Amino acid sequence: MGHATITPRPATAARSPALRGDIRIPGDKSISHRSFMFGGLAEGETRITGLLEGEDVINTGKAMQAMGARVRKDGATWIINGVGNGCLLAPEAPLDFGNAGTGCRLTMGLMGPYDFETTFIGDASLSRRPMGRVLDPLRQMGVQVTAEAGDRLPVTLRGPRAPAPISYRVPMASAQVKSAVLLAGLNIPGITTVIEPVMTRDHTEKMLKGFGAALDVETDADGVRTIRLEGRGVLKGQTIDVPGDPSSTAFPLVAALIVPGSDVIIRNVLMNPTRTGLILTLQEMGADIEVLDPRQAGGEDVADLRVRASELKGVRVPVDRAPSMIDEYPVLAIAACFATGETMMPGLVELRVKESDRLAAVARGLEINGVDCTEGEDWLSVRGRPDGKGFGARSSDAIVATWLDHRIAMSFLVLGLASEHPVHVDDCAIIATSFPEFMDMMTGMGAEISQR
Ligand code: S3P
Repeated sequence: MGHATITPRPATAARSPALRGDIRIPGDKSISHRSFMFGGLAEGETRITGLLEGEDVINTGKAMQAMGARVRKDGATWIINGVGNGCLLAPEAPLDFGNAGTGCRLTMGLMGPYDFETTFIGDASLSRRPMGRVLDPLRQMGVQVTAEAGDRLPVTLRGPRAPAPISYRVPMASAQVKSAVLLAGLNIPGITTVIEPVMTRDHTEKMLKGFGAALDVETDADGVRTIRLEGRGVLKGQTIDVPGDPSSTAFPLVAALIVPGSDVIIRNVLMNPTRTGLILTLQEMGADIEVLDPRQAGGEDVADLRVRASELKGVRVPVDRAPSMIDEYPVLAIAACFATGETMMPGLVELRVKESDRLAAVARGLEINGVDCTEGEDWLSVRGRPDGKGFGARSSDAIVATWLDHRIAMSFLVLGLASEHPVHVDDCAIIATSFPEFMDMMTGMGAEISQR
């Protein structure tokens, strides 16, 4: 397993001819992290195909190795020999999760109840992000926590002799917090309960059940979900085929919509309803997205998408759709630049605590590239112009600050493909955390993107 890229690499995107291609998006990041974690935890062998080999996921694999799992690759298949539930070993060194909130927060949940010390570290972006949302429920279980001011990394956890199960109502829409509490519950006797007022991605629930956990979900008339997990059960290795990441799909998809004349096919896209908010929103904006061959693969909905350049119109995105497209707002803002009228995106408070403050990063990037937008406390509005006239950098020093955030880098490179002037970003190396194939895939479709 290789080492993280740390040297920043500037890049520029310029107005491009019609994009053409038939591409296959790499594996879903959320499912890939969980495949390594649950495979490393379960007894016996887990075989994974389609795994996302981005830096974030590789760091999760290394963490599971450091705690006793055996991880190897045979051709295109990752083979994990897990330790068995409750049998992870104390790591000898701090676990470094690089840029990955999911890897770090879920592993905190996983390790919290163990009666030994585990230390968590990460890059500058991850070290700025709040960990209290996961540490608070762990404290309720009796876990001892040492953290930097504001519950930031480095964090050291030590579980109690006899951890107690809790019932926890997740105070913000966060699949990571829900998952961390459930993963802690795996190694606590009795029933751990998570109440989720707003549904977020359900990969943890679905996959844990697949590995044999005793877990059930009840949804009331208001959509509030109660998830109950019985701890200390047996987990058994599985065979997993990871579908393509809808959050990575978003970048070539929006690029094809805004570059005139484009016609692109994107294959093997995960269509889990907790992840498809962007497609729905773009369709409401007038996007020509054809869903081809909808099918089931590995217990998930999957389809191919045919995307053609479209005339878009501004919309107001419903607040309750935010959890199903939370990672897609930066690139939705780019689509909105090329729509007639205003696109209003409310309910974005969570964007402030992603790999960067995405609300601020998007607003500043749009402003320096001549786009008319307004940043509110928890909302963003963009007033578009379909011809992209006046968009882009007026001078070579108008460079988008990406703040170690892969999605900011990819979003602004997509902006450049249909703007009058080129768009510059300060770093594209960070894209390797989630989508190492991005540059080659985009240039292969005709996108004018160059690294400097
Ligand atoms: C993820 C949950 C989301 C999302 C992240 C992946 C997961 O984070 O933004 O990219 O795999 O559980 P939050 O739980 O912070 O919303």
